[in-house]
Amino acid sequence: ELGEYPHYMLKEIFEQPETVRNAMRGRLDRDEATAVFGGLNLTPQQLRNMDRFMLTACGTSWHSSLVGEYMIEGLARIPVEVQYASELRYRNPPLSPSTLLFAITQSGETIDTLAALREMKRKGHPTMSICNVVGSTIARESDGGIYLHAGPEIGVASTKAYTSQCVVMALLALYFGRLHHLSYEAGLRIVEDLEALPDQIETALTSNRVAKEIAAKYVDCDNFLYLGRQYNFPTALEGALKLKEISYIHAEGYPAAEMKHGPIALVDENTPSVFIVPRGGVYDKVLANVEEIKARGGPVIAVVDDGDDRVAELADDVIVMPTVADFLQPIVAAIPLQLLAYHIAVLRGCDVDKPRNLAKSVTVE
Ligand code: F6R
Repeated sequence: ELGEYPHYMLKEIFEQPETVRNAMRGRLDRDEATAVFGGLNLTPQQLRNMDRFMLTACGTSWHSSLVGEYMIEGLARIPVEVQYASELRYRNPPLSPSTLLFAITQSGETIDTLAALREMKRKGHPTMSICNVVGSTIARESDGGIYLHAGPEIGVASTKAYTSQCVVMALLALYFGRLHHLSYEAGLRIVEDLEALPDQIETALTSNRVAKEIAAKYVDCDNFLYLGRQYNFPTALEGALKLKEISYIHAEGYPAAEMKHGPIALVDENTPSVFIVPRGGVYDKVLANVEEIKARGGPVIAVVDDGDDRVAELADDVIVMPTVADFLQPIVAAIPLQLLAYHIAVLRGCDVDKPRNLAKSVTVE
């Protein structure tokens, strides 16, 4: 089943052009410039009346929910809140009845997420699940849902499920945008951006060799920082989680501009900062944050658009990714970060598919 790959994690990373295609199959409607879903089980009228979304999840799925928050608020203009499932249940937030709950979970069995779903159902909120495992508990207990169709994810560290979750978030942003204010032309542009995505992921995978070289250079560092802004703030969190869970290296993700409010004190010549800095709305701002780190003597590894030379001048090491629309950057930028974490962990002799202390699905609260 592994074929040419030494680990499931690497195999699953390389499956992403196909899994992302599967997440979109039959769900893009060019004529209407929108997304279509088969299993939401609410009418467009009912969905249009939902004026607030609550997204709940754990771990990597919580990171894709954060990406969804930026996408849905940015493209559909619906207020979104993202809450750790383990906290939502005990926070008891005041919510209007027109709040729609989304539970995001690869396995569909995470007990924290299930408990949050049940609590929101008990309060009378309509609930949706975004799951990979068909027929899982959370898929069955929610009122409606969207499957990822990513195929079984064997590696404990989530990779292909993450990018598929982000794709589903983009589809939701498109769908709800078109229910509300988004024009036909704007919708069509998003459809076209999404259609181009599988090939761009294919291109992003060519960074494998460079990621391996960079991994060898930094393999002995005991601390890493991951920094990005806006759509790539969640990318930074996810990059850091991938590294820590499979390599056991301490890593932290931050919004790049938050560094100067404390964490920059951690920066020294043995603490690399991985910046996600593709061109786009916040490019110049993140560039200024790169300069702040370099001024403190910290090594910088930068994920940049192909052809970018401004970051290359500042950074110690560069990984290129294809240029995509801002809202799709977290999906493409995740690829080099997955590869970097993978190669560092392999070089450190870690069991990447079965990291210590972790299980694929967490069924205790
Ligand atoms: C990280 C990872 C975990 C899961 C989390 C939620 O790579 O796999 O953080 O994302 O345990 O799992 P699901 O998505 O199955 O609810």
